Amino acid sequence: MTAARITVSTSARVGTIDRRVFGSFVEHLGRCVYDGIFEPGHPSADGQGFREDVIALVRELGVTAVRYPGGNFVSGYRWEDGVGPKEQRPVRRDLAWHSTETNQVGLHEFAHWNAKAGSEPMLAINLGTRGELEALDLVEYTNLPTGSALSDQRAANGSEEGFGVGMWCLGNEMDGPWQLGHRDAVDYGKLASRTAKALRQLQPDLQLVVCGSSNSQMPTFGTWEREVLEQSYDDVDFISAHVYYQPVDGDVDSFLASAVDMDRFIDVVGSTIDHVKAEKRSEKQVFISFDEWNVWYQQRYETVEKIAGLGNWPKAPRLLEDVYTVTDAVVVGSLLISLLKHADRVKAASLAQLVNVIAPIMTEPGGPAWRQTIFHPFAITSRLGRGEALRAEVSGPTIRTARFGDVQAVDSVVTHDDEAGTAAVFLVNRSRTDPITVDVALHGFGALTITETATLADDDPDAANTIEDQDRVAPAANDSAAIAAGVLTITLPPVSWTAVALSIEA
Ligand code: AHR
Repeated sequence: MTAARITVSTSARVGTIDRRVFGSFVEHLGRCVYDGIFEPGHPSADGQGFREDVIALVRELGVTAVRYPGGNFVSGYRWEDGVGPKEQRPVRRDLAWHSTETNQVGLHEFAHWNAKAGSEPMLAINLGTRGELEALDLVEYTNLPTGSALSDQRAANGSEEGFGVGMWCLGNEMDGPWQLGHRDAVDYGKLASRTAKALRQLQPDLQLVVCGSSNSQMPTFGTWEREVLEQSYDDVDFISAHVYYQPVDGDVDSFLASAVDMDRFIDVVGSTIDHVKAEKRSEKQVFISFDEWNVWYQQRYETVEKIAGLGNWPKAPRLLEDVYTVTDAVVVGSLLISLLKHADRVKAASLAQLVNVIAPIMTEPGGPAWRQTIFHPFAITSRLGRGEALRAEVSGPTIRTARFGDVQAVDSVVTHDDEAGTAAVFLVNRSRTDPITVDVALHGFGALTITETATLADDDPDAANTIEDQDRVAPAANDSAAIAAGVLTITLPPVSWTAVALSIEA
């Protein structure tokens, strides 16, 4: 048994946790929308065809905001196709995923679903194949009070009131050569700036997200952020970051340390924001919207699943339906720790995606909906991770990784909600062989009691939840936890993620 020590103080504040960091993402991709959230024939479908069993799981997951409708999909999307009488909506070829889009779900249906799911909508604008005028039209249709052509059209289509969407993404992954309308950073930065200025003439208080890099391995990473922000800094509120992790060539130790990459990613983008802010002598603070992140076995998509062929455009194909293991859930839990550790920089984030497509929730047409392993760390962190994020200083055993060198086996963040009188400690043990007993010295909180513990671990790190065995993997109470004189002691099994909820005596 090895040991680690963590020191935390209420004065070591990183920043206030914006609830939007517990966002997710619904793209018109595979079975995320059709045969996912929307399945009119399903026994649990509501009057508009949305599955209530899925909505209940989305609520349990604690999703606070949902990005929609893409993703790569948005760069070929005409939002007008998805409004008006359903029987008149055009059927299109979606070039991003080589699928058929029926447009039976669009803006009104998404707003209906989103309200039931209890989340805030976050819409993406097509800046791949469209420009400022279509963006203006979309915002007018979505948000403006009636009295103009498009807001009146919305009312005629059944929504007198606007949808009140505050957060808008100015395109998607425009640095990626795979993106329809891909362009270089200066070109895109100028377009984003012009679009943002135009949109603010319509509605000044929008919160706008300019596209950052698609991942930290992009050859333009860093330069892209600087050049885009140099064109758009004062026009936008967020720059996006996207990342997906998978084990490469069976290197599980590096995979378990993926959060080290996420930490560095956020630090680089944060420094670049500060650099451009200084260059521009700007008073404004731009934040990071980490609006796509997850584990994704991308190799499988590239080599096995990708659809092609002139006559082959399936509807709602099974794409990107990764089945997540315990190890994947531990990585997801550690990525959540990374996001909270950067609560000063990251003010919005979206677990990509929500249902069926690299998702915490799976469904079967006509059948059940169930929780994947990654559901659990997300749901628990969203429920307990409130208030301020506090820096946790960790010292303990290290693990040698091929990709990141020596990394701490244990990583942690602590959250503190002074008003509610609660705190939570989140921990990950990346060791594949050793349980680690951790002492967490909690300074400045007053008298603490443990109210809940949850550890996700399994003798089989490859165990997963499937339609046949939907609850094979679930968190369990960690009976090793004890607290005395402000020191929490807990044993973390190998490859595990843990949360401890604490109550502070008044
Ligand atoms: O989430 C799947 C895809 O990953 C998104 O459509 C795209 O933005 C990213 O490359």
